[in-house]
Amino acid sequence: MKAFNEQMEKESKKFFGERRVVFGEGKINAEIMLIGEAPGGEEDRLGRPFVGKAGKNLDEFLEIVGLEREDLYISNVVKLRPFKLSPKTNKPVNRPPNKEELDFFVPLLYKEIELVKPKLIVTLGNFALKNVLMNQKVSIGDYHGRLIETDGKKIFPLYHPASVIYDRAKGPVYIEDLHKLREIL
Ligand code: URA
Repeated sequence: MKAFNEQMEKESKKFFGERRVVFGEGKINAEIMLIGEAPGGEEDRLGRPFVGKAGKNLDEFLEIVGLEREDLYISNVVKLRPFKLSPKTNKPVNRPPNKEELDFFVPLLYKEIELVKPKLIVTLGNFALKNVLMNQKVSIGDYHGRLIETDGKKIFPLYHPASVIYDRAKGPVYIEDLHKLREIL
């Protein structure tokens, strides 16, 4: 994984300049690989995936399923923080990943999955689901909490932990999905 990360960082610097690459974290051959969208401000600052607000939510949910971060491999589809400068404050604010970022990072995500060889991939949110399934038409609303077997991979889509912060009504559904995940594990 070290060689993979070093190569990715080198190539990324050519395309995107000095923006920090937030690598996936965890053991090769971890049974479960969690895949989010992209690092936010806190992840960019600390250089680790899911350590900001969404990460705190994620930790609470992991506790429900009886998992610890050390049991997992945690990564993102895009590994740079997608940001723009706010016209009001002139400070960086998050934006959705753009085409250049996707074209660069999605093929690398597939390589990363091959290296980790997880038994189960848990996608977090719509963006990760679409890009892991390589299908832009699927929607998390239809697929969350259901085991998908495709292309020799097992994928269990969950809502993004950040979306549960913004939409409290999703909380109970999320917990239900986590219990389903626990049964599968
Ligand atoms: N932090 C991450 O690392 N990924 C996300 O998708 C959201 C927050």
